[in-house]
Amino acid sequence: MKYKIGIIGSGNIGSGLATHLAKTTNEVLIANRKGPESLTDIVSSIGGSLKASGLKETIEASDVLFFAVPWGQLKALGKQLEDYEGKIIIDTSNNIVSVSSFQLEDIGSISTGEYVAKLFPKHRVVKAFNTLAAATLKQPTKNELGRTVIVISGDDADAKKEVAAITEAMGFAPVDTGTFAGGGKLQDIGGPFSGAELIKVGKR
Ligand SMILES: NC(=O)c1ccc[n+]([C@@H]2O[C@H](COP(=O)([O-])OP(=O)(O)OC[C@H]3O[C@@H](n4cnc5c(N)ncnc54)[C@H](OP(=O)(O)O)[C@@H]3O)[C@@H](O)[C@H]2O)c1
Repeated sequence: MKYKIGIIGSGNIGSGLATHLAKTTNEVLIANRKGPESLTDIVSSIGGSLKASGLKETIEASDVLFFAVPWGQLKALGKQLEDYEGKIIIDTSNNIVSVSSFQLEDIGSISTGEYVAKLFPKHRVVKAFNTLAAATLKQPTKNELGRTVIVISGDDADAKKEVAAITEAMGFAPVDTGTFAGGGKLQDIGGPFSGAELIKVGKR
């Protein structure tokens, strides 16, 4: 299946995602707050199917949206998506509110995926791509035995299947850990998968 994919955020994670998505057969747009003219260098260096676009236009045009924005900006995106429904959102965020004096937002006992899903009740949120450091995401370790794992969790089983297919096309090995309540916390900061680059032995 061919998707219209939008990447919201062009920083460390957004540009890493773009590197892999641009090599797939999907149509891929990338957007940020500054606007498409600020994305000329990224788009020309990555190439492939990647195109720069405005934020509004990217949201409008995409069936699948990767969120690669800071945690504190997710609510602002919630407003932008209010007029739409049914989009698959792949949330890459960690609940970091301060990097300098490393601090996480206290979201109680739920996982970040569940928290973000509540911000986007009309959409199909899947948590993925939040466990690897940006440099590893951009350039996964070469391994003859298999592919780097992307951990996925969420409550919409069909959306997770589609995210898994996109993840495979990007060259990674998707591993579904279950629902937000069951598997979500395993991939949040403090969980066993956070910061771990795992290799799924098998297909190269
Ligand atoms: N960095 C890592 O190693 C890492 C690892 C795992 C997960 N993550 C998660 O990935 C997310 C992104 O992190 P990052 O390091 O890539 O951040 P970053 O380098 O600071 O990039 C953030 C990007 O988000 C855009 N942005 C911010 N607010 C926006 C809004 N309201 N609408 C549209 N675009 C907006 C910014 O655009 P402008 O420049 O135009 O403002 C920028 O392109 C975070 O949630 C983080 O927790 C990061």
